[in-house]
Amino acid sequence: MCGIIGYVGSKSAKEEILDGLKMLEYRGYDSAGICCFEKGKFSLIKKKGKVATLVEACQGQLKDVHCGIGHTRWATHGDPSDKNAHPFLSENNSVAIVHNGIIENFEVLKGSLQKQGVRFRSDTDSEVIAQLLQKSKCESELKKVQELSTLLKGSYAIAILFKGLENQIFAIRKNSPLIVGKSKDGFYLSSDVNALVDKTDEYHIMEENEIIWIDNNDCYAFDEHLQAKEIVYNKMNLTKQDISRGAFEHYMLKEIMQVPNAIKNTIQECDAVINPYMKLPREMIKELRHITIIGCGTAYNAGLTASHYAREREILVDCVYASEYRYRKFLPIENEICIFISQSGETADTIEALKIAKEHSIPTIVVTNVASSTLNKLADFIIPTKAGPEIAVASTKAYNAQITALYGLMDYIYCIKHKLNCRSCILKDKLDDVVKKLEHYSFKKVNELADIIKESERVFYIGRGVDYATSQEASLKLKEISNIHSESLYAGELKHGTLALIDEHTTVIAIATQKSLFDKTLNSIYEIKARGARVILVTQFEVDIEAVDMLIDLPCTDQAIMAEIAIYPMQMLAYKTAVLKGLDPDKPRNLAKSVTVE
Ligand code: M6R
Repeated sequence: MCGIIGYVGSKSAKEEILDGLKMLEYRGYDSAGICCFEKGKFSLIKKKGKVATLVEACQGQLKDVHCGIGHTRWATHGDPSDKNAHPFLSENNSVAIVHNGIIENFEVLKGSLQKQGVRFRSDTDSEVIAQLLQKSKCESELKKVQELSTLLKGSYAIAILFKGLENQIFAIRKNSPLIVGKSKDGFYLSSDVNALVDKTDEYHIMEENEIIWIDNNDCYAFDEHLQAKEIVYNKMNLTKQDISRGAFEHYMLKEIMQVPNAIKNTIQECDAVINPYMKLPREMIKELRHITIIGCGTAYNAGLTASHYAREREILVDCVYASEYRYRKFLPIENEICIFISQSGETADTIEALKIAKEHSIPTIVVTNVASSTLNKLADFIIPTKAGPEIAVASTKAYNAQITALYGLMDYIYCIKHKLNCRSCILKDKLDDVVKKLEHYSFKKVNELADIIKESERVFYIGRGVDYATSQEASLKLKEISNIHSESLYAGELKHGTLALIDEHTTVIAIATQKSLFDKTLNSIYEIKARGARVILVTQFEVDIEAVDMLIDLPCTDQAIMAEIAIYPMQMLAYKTAVLKGLDPDKPRNLAKSVTVE
C-alpha cells in the first residue's frame, strides 16, 4: 500500500511528482504529500485527503524545482491526517523521506531515539527512518542508507533526500516494490511501472536490499554491502491508452468491459506453440499428488473456482488464504506443488506464503498479471495472465484471466498424468465461445437489479459447488465498493444458522449454473422465500419459478466453465450499485489496490 514517487531532472519536479501520485493513488488515498529542493532548502506540502487536495494546495507553490519525492498514503500506523502524511522531515529538517511498508520494530527504535531527546511530530512508524538517518554517525550518505537495512525490521521501500545534496535521491527497498525509470529528461522512482508510462522509455526493478543513488547525471546501484552493481533496464511496453480511463466514467467500468479481452489474451498466451505450461517439468507433473492454491481476496476466489474444475479432472486441490498459510503449522505432503495467484504479484501475505513453500522445497508456480512483480522473481515457474493493467481497487478482469489460465493448467496436468495428447484447442474453442457471449451480454436486467440492491440493508449470495465460489467473488465485489453488508454461503448451509437472519429486508442472490445441483439450490430458494426475502436467480437454465422475484439470465456455455460467465453480471451489479449510491467504485473506503503490508 502507499505510492512513492521521486524525480530528478530538467522538468518541473512538482508536475512530475503530482502526475505520478495521480497514477499511484489506487495504492492509497488517505493523504498525500510532496517535498522538493527549493533554493537549497526543503519545501514540504502535505495534506489529508486525496491527491486532488494536494494538487490544490500546491497551486502557485514549488515554482522552480527539479528534484523531489512524493507519497500517497494508506494508513497503517496513525490516523489519516496532515501530520501523519508523508514526506517526513527529521527533527532538524536535514533529511526528508517517504516510505511504503511497515517498520515492525519502530516502537523500540522510537523509544531509543526519544531517550536521546529526539522529538517526533507524527504517530507513524515511518518517521523513525528520517530520525535514524539524522542521528547516524556514518561518514557518507550512502553508508547512512545502507545502515538502515541493519536497523529496520519489516518491509520498506524508501526514497530519501539529504539537505546539502541538492538534486540527489537515495532509495532502498526490502519486501516492498520500487522501480527506477530512465528518460532523456531525468530519472524517476516509482512504486509501480504504470506511473512511469509516457514518462520513461526504460525501467529497472530494484532488487531486494538494493540501494539506489540518483544524481543529476546518472543512477547508480549498490548491493547491501555497497558493492556497485550493474543496472538492468527493461523496455517500457505499456502505453498511455493501457493505463488511462479513456471515455469510461471509471476504471472499474473500463475493466469490466475488458473482461472478454482479458480471457482472449490469456487463452492466446496459454495456447501458444511454446506455452507457459510446457515449462513445467513433466516428471514433476506425473508424480504430482496434491496442489495447494494460495492467494488473497479475488485471487483466492479464482483459485477456489478453479479447484472445482480440477476436481472434475481428478486433481486434488486445496485452497488456502495466504494470510492463513503463512502462520499455520506446516505439514509436508508428498509430491505437492503450490500455486500462488495474485494480480499485482506484490501482495505481502502471498509473497511470504511463497517463501515458506520454498523453504520446504515445494515447487512454486505463480499466476500473476504483472511481469515485473516480486512474485514472478521469487517463483520457480510463471503462468502469466494477460488482463492488462488493472487499476480499479476491485478486481474484475484479472479474476477471469486467472481462472482462464488455471483451467488451461488443470487440463495440461490431467493430460500429462493420463498420458494424453494435450489439446489445448478444445479448451480454446470453449473459451472463444465464452468471449463471444460476454461481448454481446446485455446488462439491462442488471441495471434494474442495481436499483433494488442500492436500497438493501444486506445481501446474501448463495450457491453450491463452483457456484459457491462465484457467489464468494460476487459478494466480495458488492461489499467492497457499495458498503452494503453482504455474505456468501453454501446454499445447503443456510438452514444451519444464517436462515435466522433472513426476513423481508433481505435480498438473496442465488447462483445456479450446474444442472446436477440445480434442484438442490431450488430447495434453498423455497426456504428463503418462505421467510419473506427477495430472491434473485442467476442461471442459464430456462425456468419459471414463482418463488423467484427476478431472473438474471446467463448465456449458455460448457457447464465446466460457466463461472467465467456467471461472474460477469455480478461484477457489473456491484459497479452499478456503487455508482447509484454516489460512491467512487475505483477508490472504496479503507481499501487500496495492492496490499503490500501484512
Ligand atoms: O494483487 P492480488 O491479486 O494479490 O490482490 C489480492 C487481493 O488484495 C485483491 O484481490 C482484493 O481482494 C481485491 N480488492 C478484490 O476486488
